[in-house]
Amino acid sequence: KVLILDFGSQVTQLIGRRVRELNIYSEIHPYNKPPENIAEYNAVILSGSPLSVRGDDVAHPDLSEIQGKKPLLGICYGAQYLAHFGGGRVAESNTREYGRANLSYIGKNELFQNISEGSQVWMSHSDTIKELPAKATLLASTQDVENAAFKIDGEETYAIQFHPEVYHSKDGTQLLENFLVNIAGVAQDWTPDSFVEETVKNLKEQLGNDKVVLGLSGGVDSTVAAVLLHKAIGSNLHCIFVNNGLLRKNEFTSVLKQYEGMGLNVKGVDASARFLEALAGESDPEGKRKIIGRVFIEVFDDEANQIEDAKWLAQGTIYPDVIESVSVNGGPSATIKSHHNVGGLPDFMKLKIVEPLKMLFKDEVRRVGASMGLESDLLGRHPFPGPGLAIRILGDITPEKVSILQEVDAIFINGLKDNGLYDKVWQAGAILLPVQSVGVMGDERTYEKCVALRAVESTDGMTADWVNLPYEFLQKTSNEIINKVKGVNRVVYDISSKPPATIEWE
Ligand code: XMP
Repeated sequence: KVLILDFGSQVTQLIGRRVRELNIYSEIHPYNKPPENIAEYNAVILSGSPLSVRGDDVAHPDLSEIQGKKPLLGICYGAQYLAHFGGGRVAESNTREYGRANLSYIGKNELFQNISEGSQVWMSHSDTIKELPAKATLLASTQDVENAAFKIDGEETYAIQFHPEVYHSKDGTQLLENFLVNIAGVAQDWTPDSFVEETVKNLKEQLGNDKVVLGLSGGVDSTVAAVLLHKAIGSNLHCIFVNNGLLRKNEFTSVLKQYEGMGLNVKGVDASARFLEALAGESDPEGKRKIIGRVFIEVFDDEANQIEDAKWLAQGTIYPDVIESVSVNGGPSATIKSHHNVGGLPDFMKLKIVEPLKMLFKDEVRRVGASMGLESDLLGRHPFPGPGLAIRILGDITPEKVSILQEVDAIFINGLKDNGLYDKVWQAGAILLPVQSVGVMGDERTYEKCVALRAVESTDGMTADWVNLPYEFLQKTSNEIINKVKGVNRVVYDISSKPPATIEWE
């Protein structure tokens, strides 16, 4: 396995993902809290950082257990670290070193095998390496950066100034493969099948004959977690699927049926009325979230208490939710959203937590799901917020508004599916606005509601851009909504990117 020491770069997670794409298991740890069992890692990568090696608050961990003893690759700050503390010189650069650059080789090295001269790489740094450390050999340069890659003689220590993990570095994955497979000899055995086999075995040992409770949401993560646990402990896994009355049209019944079809031991609990009553009159977005969170815990707790002797609570937490972020310049590099399920349900549940997907990235969860035979429509579902339609109804929530929005949303989402657009969109939905406007239908003047449609492209929801849906599609969808959904006489399309807007309107 591979250790990635994080110095706070925005793109450290991408290093982890690239390594995993090579079917090699990797873990990200903060530079100032390295794992204790360093001996178990076959290779180490040092990430980039917003810090400077020349600064006062320089990150300078002790690498004596690593450098010279294991294959080591420094990226960007990692490279400057190896230069600066190895007797070289790092200084502020006088040219801008951001964006595309092309490599030229000094001497061909194993690190650059199968990467041709001129290969495009991505630079993002304001310091530059002026002099190499002691006993180092220069491997590559670019037009603006002389010391773009070097190796320390007599050690398996490599350093590169550019970022192989970002998409714009065309041969970045090849470079990581050269380092990890050819140089470090790490085995490429981290596959979905091997993960399933290993995890099921471990879950069997960990859980024995204990009963486990799991809340299904209809989303990919909780579903894959449930299927893994089901494989390990069968009907000792008790799933609870709560209808909060804020799901998509027909979602509760159809997903419940799908779960039952998969052989899961699942109980559907329709608590719509309880949620809608509690929400009555609440217009504040955070207020809605709090109410929904509280009622969910009450409902879930009632149900969980009916499962006698339950010992464990299973959750579909995934790796990006648990990676400890490095705090530099006063702020963490990856802000964890407050609505993510880190930490789980409150203490009063008194159950031990089991999180079988805790070490997986989202794309790996999908691959694992596929390898266990989950249907692709389930694996390819758009993300859907926990508070559901409540945060897509601006203002207070009434059963009538929920049903209007469900109809609108169904027309939009089914339209995307029927027109082959669903998989091109990362997330889509409709928003019911607290606005009425004048319209005309037949000879009648109307004064009815307005809905906004939103469809975005994204990789992780942290940034997003609106999707350029075909005009004909928008036209057809708008007609269908206004003709079929009583109470709506106007449809608009949201063309804001995140940032500065957000994906949801609340
Ligand atoms: P924003 O609106 O912050 O959304 O750009 C980013 C992603 O997070 C989802 N989201 C939520 N998910 N509970 C959730 O489980 C919430 O309260 C919540 N708010 C936003 C949103 O759907 C998008 O995928």
